[in-house]
Amino acid sequence: MKDKLIIFDTTLRDGEQSPGASMTKEEKVRIARQLEKMKVDVIEAGFPAASPGDFDAVSSVAQAVRESTVCGLARAIENDIRRAGEALKPARSGRIHTFIATSPIHMEKKLRMAPEMVLEQAVKAVKWAGEYTDNIEFSPEDAGRSDLDFLCRILEAVIKAGAKTLNIPDTVGYSMPEQYGALIRNLRERIPNSDKAIFSVHCHNDLGLAVANSLSAVMNGARQVECTINGLGERAGNAALEEIVMAVRTRQDYFHCDTGIDATQIVQASRLVSGITGFAVQPNKAIVGINAFAHESGIHQDGVLKSRETYEIMRAEDVGWSANKLVLGKHSGRNAFRTRLSELGIELSEEALNAAFARFKDLADKKHDIFDEDIQAIVSDEAFDSAEYYKLLFLKVCSETGETPSATVKILDGGIEREGHAEGSGPVDAAFRAIESIAKSESELQLYSVNNITSGTDAQGEVTVRLQKDGRIVNGQGADTDIVVASAKAYIGALNRLKAGLERLNPQL
Ligand code: KIV
Ligand code: ZN
Repeated sequence: MKDKLIIFDTTLRDGEQSPGASMTKEEKVRIARQLEKMKVDVIEAGFPAASPGDFDAVSSVAQAVRESTVCGLARAIENDIRRAGEALKPARSGRIHTFIATSPIHMEKKLRMAPEMVLEQAVKAVKWAGEYTDNIEFSPEDAGRSDLDFLCRILEAVIKAGAKTLNIPDTVGYSMPEQYGALIRNLRERIPNSDKAIFSVHCHNDLGLAVANSLSAVMNGARQVECTINGLGERAGNAALEEIVMAVRTRQDYFHCDTGIDATQIVQASRLVSGITGFAVQPNKAIVGINAFAHESGIHQDGVLKSRETYEIMRAEDVGWSANKLVLGKHSGRNAFRTRLSELGIELSEEALNAAFARFKDLADKKHDIFDEDIQAIVSDEAFDSAEYYKLLFLKVCSETGETPSATVKILDGGIEREGHAEGSGPVDAAFRAIESIAKSESELQLYSVNNITSGTDAQGEVTVRLQKDGRIVNGQGADTDIVVASAKAYIGALNRLKAGLERLNPQL
C-alpha cells in the first residue's frame, strides 16, 4: 500500500493574495465546490481575521463543503485564532492553520520578538486553536531561511501542544530542491516526536522551483503538499496543484505515495479559477495550457498516430481535456441549459439562471455552435454582473482607415440613463474613453487581455480588464462575439467592482 499524499489547496487564501485575484464570497464558494468535486483533501478558504468579508467567505465555504476539510488561516494571535475558530463552526471537518515567522530576519525586523518569545507564542497559539478543534496545523513562516536547531525546538513544542500538521513554508521561494528535501528529512529525523505529526510543504515560485521543491520534499517524507490551481499565489505564485498531482501520478514508479485527486476535474478547475480571477493560463503551461497536449511537429504527430506513448506521457482526457463538444444549440430549452450547467458543476440562483439563459439565447442567435467554454463564459459574465451599478445599454463604434475611431455609449448609471461619446486610438480605446466620460472613475488601466474562448472567427472573445484606483485592484470580464462589446462589458464589470468595494486592500494583514 502506498502512502496517501494529502492535497491542501490554498487557491482561496494564498492564491487570492495575487494582486487583482481577490474573489467575492460567491466566487469562493463556486471554486470550493469544484475543489471538493476534485476530491481535494483540505481547502484553505481564507483568513477570517483579515476582514468581516473574509470571515463570511470562510464561513460560507465551511457551510457549503461537506467532503473536504475546510481550513482558516490565523496568525499566532488570540483574536485571529478565535475568529478562525468561529468562522469554521459550520464545517463538517475544520482545521485551524496558525503561523508565526521563525527566520532571524523576520523575528528581528518584522516581529521584533526574541526567538524564545516566538516559541512561547507559537505554543500558546496551538493551545488556543485546541479550544476549537483537534485538527491544527502550524507553520513556521520563512522556514526556508530559519535556523535548523530553532525549527526543531519550536516544532517539537507545537507537536506537544497539539499540532497535527507541521507545514514548512519556503515563504520567499529561496530554497533549492536538494536543500529543501534535506530540510524535511533533517526535521523528521531530529525532532523526537516527529512521528506524531504529518509534514507538509508550502513552496513559492520566485525562482521557478515551487513544484520541484515540493516534490523533493515528498521524496523526503512530506505527506501534505500545499498548492494552488494554475500556480496562483503571492508574487510568482505557489506550487501548481495540477503539476504536483500529475507528476506523482505519472511517476508512480518513482514516488512512494499517491493523491486521491480526481484528475479529470483539473481542466475544469483551472478554467473556473482563471475565469474568476482574470488570470489567463499561458498556452504552454503544463497540464492546463491549451498547448499542453498539442503536437505540432510532423515527426511528433506521426509518432503519436502510430503509438500514442511515443510522445505522450499522460492522456489529455485524464486531466479533463475533451474535444470541444457541441453541447447546446439555438433550440435548446431552459431545462437542457440547467442540466448542462449542473454537469459543469455550476449552480445558480433562479434569478441568475434566468439571466444566464437569456444571454445564452442571445448568443445562440449570433453563434451557431455553443460549447462548454461558451457556457462558462456566460456564467462568469453573470457572476461578474452581480453587483451592477453601471449597465451597458448601447454601444456604437466607428472605425475606418484614415479616420480617428470614435465610440458612443449609453449606460445605466445608478438607474439613470446617460450617453457618452469619445474618440480614441482604436475602437476599444474610444469605447473605454466614452464609458469613462460618464463614470469618471479616474482609475488606471493595468491590464487588457483578449482570449478567444473557442476556435473560429465566430468564437466569443473573452476580455479581462484590470483597473487600479487608490491601491485597490479589480478585475472585470466580458464575453461576446464582438470583442469591442466584450471589452466594454469587461470595463463596466471592473467599474462595478470598484463601485461596490468588492475587493479588499490587502487580504494578508
Ligand atoms: O508563504 C507562507 O509562508 C504562507 C504561510 C502563511 C503558510 O503563506
Ligand atoms: Zn504562502
